[in-house]
Amino acid sequence: MSPGDTKRTACVTGGNGYIASALVKMLLEKGYAVKTTVRNPDDMEKNSHLEDQQALGSLEVFRADLDEEGSFDEAIAGCDYAFLVAAPVNIHAKNPEKELIEPAVRGTLNVLRSCVKAGTVKRVVLTSSVAAVTSRPLQGDGHVLDEDSWSDVEHLAATNSPYRGYPVSKVLLEKAATRFAEEHGISLVTLCPVVTVGAAPAPSARTSVPNCLSLLSGDEAAFAVLDGIERATGCVPLVHVEDLCRAELFAAEEDAPPAAAGRYICCPASGLRSRE
Ligand SMILES: NC(=O)c1ccc[n+]([C@@H]2O[C@H](COP(=O)([O-])OP(=O)(O)OC[C@H]3O[C@@H](n4cnc5c(N)ncnc54)[C@H](OP(=O)(O)O)[C@@H]3O)[C@@H](O)[C@H]2O)c1
Repeated sequence: MSPGDTKRTACVTGGNGYIASALVKMLLEKGYAVKTTVRNPDDMEKNSHLEDQQALGSLEVFRADLDEEGSFDEAIAGCDYAFLVAAPVNIHAKNPEKELIEPAVRGTLNVLRSCVKAGTVKRVVLTSSVAAVTSRPLQGDGHVLDEDSWSDVEHLAATNSPYRGYPVSKVLLEKAATRFAEEHGISLVTLCPVVTVGAAPAPSARTSVPNCLSLLSGDEAAFAVLDGIERATGCVPLVHVEDLCRAELFAAEEDAPPAAAGRYICCPASGLRSRE
């Protein structure tokens, strides 16, 4: 933000999460007023960093749950930007349809309805995942996957893989969000990050960081996730969490096409390949 600019307000959903905590910090450092949501504001084991971050600037914490209709209204009211980062990420869900896919789609639309009600949101930045891009049946090497590529929901259902729920949830929530945004005149940019690593303020990291550390810790369940990614894409592509947050800000602030709309894979130089 340049000196003299009026302070802009951004809502980040799920501020106790790994990526969202880093995004809240970066927004505050850039001079934004930030409103963030957590499911339980009294849970200091998960939220202590948000108290610390209040020293960086204007940060308000709201209670909101993706499963409760209208729950995000107060947090998004008056915001210029909405960063949709919170999502169910339980890749080990026993019933992926009920625990992951349906709540992810419903929750995304719930937050988007709050953006419509607010009437102030200039841009919504949705954090999806490269899992919505790469899970598709391709033979051999040499395939190029880009922003026009989608994970194949029917193929995933047919594989009965224990990890199918996560990519399916991301494909379906992205498609539902895009449709909703078109119908309601919302400016939406979607980011599809690869495996995200690096230090973030949240007191504990439950997703990609323990997965990557499994190479050292020997945690087999966490390693199985990396192994699954390697099998699907031929590599384990990594992005630094600060680079991802910079991309989130760019996606929000950019006014000129083509970056002001659409879907962007967030991955450093390494190409994404896909194979069976
Ligand atoms: N980490 C990666 O490598 C990576 C890569 C690509 C995409 N992503 C995407 O980035 C986003 C954040 O991931 P992360 O790694 O930061 O995961 P995380 O630390 O587990 O954060 C997930 C957040 O979502 C919240 N959440 C889950 N269900 C909710 C509900 N029903 N209502 C309200 N909040 C809910 C969690 O709150 P609770 O603490 O209350 O559960 C938590 O704040 C996710 O959408 C994920 O799919 C992550």
